[in-house]
Amino acid sequence: MTDSSSASSKERIIRLRQEIERHNRLYYQEAAPEISDQDFDALLAELGALEALHPELVDADSPTRRVGSDVSGGFATVRHLVPMQSLENTYSEGEVREFVARVLKGLPGENVRFTIEPKVDGVAISLLYESGRLVRAATRGDGQTGEEVTRNVLTIAGIPGQVEGFPGGIMEIRGEIYLPKQQFARLNEARDEEGLPAFANPRNAAAGSLKHLDARVVAERGLRGIFYGFGALPADFARSGDEFIRRLQNSGFPVPEHCQPASSMEEILAAIRAWDSGRHGLEYETDGAVVKVDSLSQRARLGSTSKAPRWAMAFKYPPERVTTRLVGITIQVGRTGVLTPVAELEPVSVSGSRVGRATLHNEEEIHRKDLRVGDHVEIEKAGEVIPAVVGVVTGRRDGSERPFAMPAACPSCGGPVSREEGQVAYRCANPSCPAQLLRRLGHFASRGAMDIEGLGERMVTQLVESGLVHSIPDLYRLRPEGLVALERMGEKSTTNLLEAIESSKRRPLWRLLFGLGVLHVGAVAARNLAAHFQTLDRLAAATEAELTTLPDVGDIMAHSIHQWFQHPQVHALLNELRALGLNLEETEITPPPGGPLDGTTWVLTGTLSIPREEAAERIRLAGGKVSSSVSKKTTYLLVGADAGSKLEKAQALEVAIVDESSFRRMIEEIN
Ligand code: IVH
Repeated sequence: MTDSSSASSKERIIRLRQEIERHNRLYYQEAAPEISDQDFDALLAELGALEALHPELVDADSPTRRVGSDVSGGFATVRHLVPMQSLENTYSEGEVREFVARVLKGLPGENVRFTIEPKVDGVAISLLYESGRLVRAATRGDGQTGEEVTRNVLTIAGIPGQVEGFPGGIMEIRGEIYLPKQQFARLNEARDEEGLPAFANPRNAAAGSLKHLDARVVAERGLRGIFYGFGALPADFARSGDEFIRRLQNSGFPVPEHCQPASSMEEILAAIRAWDSGRHGLEYETDGAVVKVDSLSQRARLGSTSKAPRWAMAFKYPPERVTTRLVGITIQVGRTGVLTPVAELEPVSVSGSRVGRATLHNEEEIHRKDLRVGDHVEIEKAGEVIPAVVGVVTGRRDGSERPFAMPAACPSCGGPVSREEGQVAYRCANPSCPAQLLRRLGHFASRGAMDIEGLGERMVTQLVESGLVHSIPDLYRLRPEGLVALERMGEKSTTNLLEAIESSKRRPLWRLLFGLGVLHVGAVAARNLAAHFQTLDRLAAATEAELTTLPDVGDIMAHSIHQWFQHPQVHALLNELRALGLNLEETEITPPPGGPLDGTTWVLTGTLSIPREEAAERIRLAGGKVSSSVSKKTTYLLVGADAGSKLEKAQALEVAIVDESSFRRMIEEIN
C-alpha cells in the first residue's frame, strides 16, 4: 500500500466513522433516521472493506466493531449479564452462501441444521426473570449497558409479568418490541391531528414509545413484543433454538410464527426467497430473514466476534421504492380542524398494491423534503402498509415544478387558517366547518367510540350532504321519512340504522367522552376519566388541578379537558345530548374489548408488592374497573399484606378474594 493511498483511505475511514456515528445517533437515540437502512448498511460495508484493506487503521471503537447505542438519557442504565450483540447483515445471496460455508468449516464433519426466522424490525429488548417473575427490562443500549424500561414494558400486552414453569434462578429472554402496523397508522393519523410530527416508520414509533417517560402514554400506544433469543439461561433449558422457542411459547410468550428448518444451502435460499412475500401478512414489520444455526452447542462452539455471533446472519430485503409524479397536493381537513396536505400521485404499484395518494403530514415535512408539484418523487410503504413519499428525484426537474404553500383559507368552509406557536399543524378554527363535521361524526360513530353500526363514512357523507345532519345531536333526531329518501336506503336498512343509533344512547360514558373528540383524550384516558368521575357533570366540574391528580392525566390533557368544558358551545351540545336521552353516567362497566378482566370490579386492600395505583392501572388496562369500597357489586378483592376491614366486609358479602400471585396469573395476558 502506498503512503498516499493509505492517507486518503485514512481520511475516508475517519469521515465514514463520523458519518456512521451520526446516523447511529439519529436512528437509535432520536428515532429520526435521515437515510434508509440500506444506505446505512452501504456506508458500514464501505468502512468494513476499507478497514480490511488497512488493518493498521482498525480501531476497537470503530462502528464496525461495536453496536450503535440506543441510550437516550432519562432512564437508569443497567449492565447486561451477557452482552447484547448485533447481527451480520447482507443483501446478497452470495454472502449467505459464504456464511453457510464458514459455518460448515467451523464444524467439520458435523450435521448442521439451520432455521430461518423473520427479522423483526423493532427495538431490541432484554427481559430478566427471577424465579419466573419479570424483574427488569432493558434496551440494548451500546450492547454492554442498556436503559432500564421495566415500568414501560409492564404496560405491554402479552409480555408475561409472571411465568409459571420457568426454572428458579435467572432467565434472560430477548426479543423485539414493535408497534403493529395498523397501530402505527392510527398513531400517525392522531399525531397529524394533534399537530405533532409523524413517525417515519413503525420501528421509530416503537423506539420513541418505549422510551417515553410516561408509562401511561406507552400503554396507550399499543406496543407488542416478540421473543426469539436469550442471554443468561440455565444450561439444560433447551438444546436448540427451535426447542427454546417452543418452550417460550408454552410459557405464554409471543414468538415468531414462522421458523423454517433448512439443512442445505438450497433449502436456506428457498426459505429466504419465499419469506420475502410471506412476511407482508404479519402484524409486525420485518426487514429480512435471520439464518441461524439451530443447535445451541454448535452455536457455542462457533462463538462470536466483538459485534455479532458467527452462527447467525441477517439477510435483508431492500424496501421496494418506485418513482412516480406528484401531480398535486390537496388538503384534507381533520375532525379537530387540522389541515393535512395529501400527495396526489400518478398511480403506481408499490409492494403489492396500487398507490395514488399519500399523506404528507404537514407543511414542514414538504419543505424539508423540498417537494414541488410536478416533481418526480420516490414512494415507499412505511411499515409496509402506508404509502410514503420518501424523496425527490431533483435531476428530473424541468423548471415547471411549483413549490407548495399552505392555503390561507380552509378548503372546506373558506374560514381562516392559523397555526399555534410551536405546532407544525395549521387549523381551521370554524367549529361548524363541514369537513370537520364529517370527520367528527365519523369518529363519533366509529367502532372504538360509540360503535354505531351502519354509520360509516359513506352514510355520514350522505347525511351531511342531504342536510339531514348538521351536528352530533342531529343523529338522534333522524326520522325514518328522511332516511328512506336517501340513496340505497330501504325500509330495512333505515330501521336497522335507527335502532343502532337508538341503542348507542346507552353506551358507557367513556365511549361518549372519547367519541366527542376532546383534544388529547384517547380511549384509555376517556375510560379512566369516566371510571374516576363516574358522571359527566362531575368531570365537567373538575378543576385542572383535580384532573392532574389522576394517574392518567398530565398538564396538557387536563388543560384541554378543562378548556373544552368551559366552551358555551360544548355546554349547549351536552345539554342537547342529555335532553335526547344519552347516558351521561358511568353506569356500565367499561371493558376494552377482549381484556382478561372484562366486566369485573375490583377493590384493593393491604400492602402489595407494587404501588396500589399501579395495580389499579393494570386492572383497568385488562378491562376491569377499580372501586374504592367493597359492595355487592365488587367481583374481586385484591388483598396484600396486613389487610383490614375491607377484607372482613368482602368475606361477609362473599366477594371472591384474590391474592397477588393469582392476580398476576389472571392478568398474565396483558403484562
Ligand atoms: S438473533 C446476537 N433473531 O436484529 C444477536 N435477532 O440487526 C442475535 N432481530 O440485534 C439476534 N429479529 O435485535 C435475532 N429473529 C431474530 C431477530 C433479531 C430481529 C434484531 C436483534 C438484533 C438485530 C440486528
